[in-house]
Amino acid sequence: MLVNLPPMGWNSWNTFGENINDELIRQSADKLVASGLKDAGYEYIVIDDCWSERQRDPETGRIVPDHAKFPNGMKAVADYVHSKGLKFGMYSCAGVRTCADYPGSFDNEFLDARTFAEWGVDYLKYDYCNFPKSADGPTAYRRMGNALRACGRDIVYSLCNWGSDDVWSWVRSAGGHLYRSTGDIFDTNASFAAIARSQLEKFCYSGNNCFNDMDMLTVGMFGKGNVGRTEGTCTMETYKTQFALWTLMGSPLMLGCDLRAMTPEILALVTNKDLLAFNQDPEARPAFVANRYLRGPVSQQIPDHVVLAKLLSDGDMALGFFNLTDRPGEFFLQFDDLGFPASTGYGLRLTDIFTGKEFGLFSEQMKMAGEPFHCAVFRAHPEPCQARIAGLRYDFG
Ligand code: GLA
Repeated sequence: MLVNLPPMGWNSWNTFGENINDELIRQSADKLVASGLKDAGYEYIVIDDCWSERQRDPETGRIVPDHAKFPNGMKAVADYVHSKGLKFGMYSCAGVRTCADYPGSFDNEFLDARTFAEWGVDYLKYDYCNFPKSADGPTAYRRMGNALRACGRDIVYSLCNWGSDDVWSWVRSAGGHLYRSTGDIFDTNASFAAIARSQLEKFCYSGNNCFNDMDMLTVGMFGKGNVGRTEGTCTMETYKTQFALWTLMGSPLMLGCDLRAMTPEILALVTNKDLLAFNQDPEARPAFVANRYLRGPVSQQIPDHVVLAKLLSDGDMALGFFNLTDRPGEFFLQFDDLGFPASTGYGLRLTDIFTGKEFGLFSEQMKMAGEPFHCAVFRAHPEPCQARIAGLRYDFG
């Protein structure tokens, strides 16, 4: 099956952890539709870990939904999600037990894939905890890939081995459509910034039909919930940075906040048309670091204050200035590094995607300064440009 754009939806883990049930999932599906998120492209409702009984059914060997949390069974939940025009995702693990100690799918891959197909599952997140030391990770992931392909239903295969075993080198051949390329996110500035930095060398592996997954977003959690933290918590401004990074970097966009409690500002951010267009651009080209240092070892060539650019299919370019540190930062961008030296006779007309305002026509170079964990993001339109407009300094955040 083809998954040509980064999947978008909602996942229960970041906010709810083990506190999930039939009603919560239905309410989240309702809210995805009523809020306009579905119209913006968010289509998956994914139940993460902790949905099953602690043991398989001794007679059938099947995983059984927790009777108290899901008294109507899982097919009823899937049917409800489908009735809202949405798709239904579930979770299992390549190990013998999941990360939260529920049954995993190791050695039961084909049975479990058939079970998921019978319930009407459209998406499977497949974790990596409690994996037998004597077994081979890539082989187990291939096995579930084969099981999903043989189960008689199109199921998106979302691998979650946190970037281990050089997953980018085999994930496509194992049938994966997306794969976690990082460890787990927490709802802090330092956490999302570290994840973003860790991806800068890995863009080239992401593209149509198999995307680097930077983990579920914490946007809108404001420190609450399962991966919420009281220290270093994100603010409305730094959520803009997190969301812009995920969109520009082509990550799947799985919301992790309580949809029922979203503020209008958060809703506006995650439905920002320009940011979603960057993420869902049909060519799905990777971004590149546009202010890479020119000298020194490769590992030191990436600055803390990162300028990312991404070619869009309409000829424009997405351009983002990201301060990934807890210190105010300075940016210096040479347009030569974007492929637009002055000799081309072209500059870039920039539109601020958060305000929608035209920012100006620039060429040759730009200087920017930004507050800790803040960003400035533009749609850049190449245009013939005679005058040199250089040395402008813009302070954001
Ligand atoms: C791992 C995954 C998380 C989440 C938990 C559930 O840590 O990386 O995304 O699924 O397991 O236990």
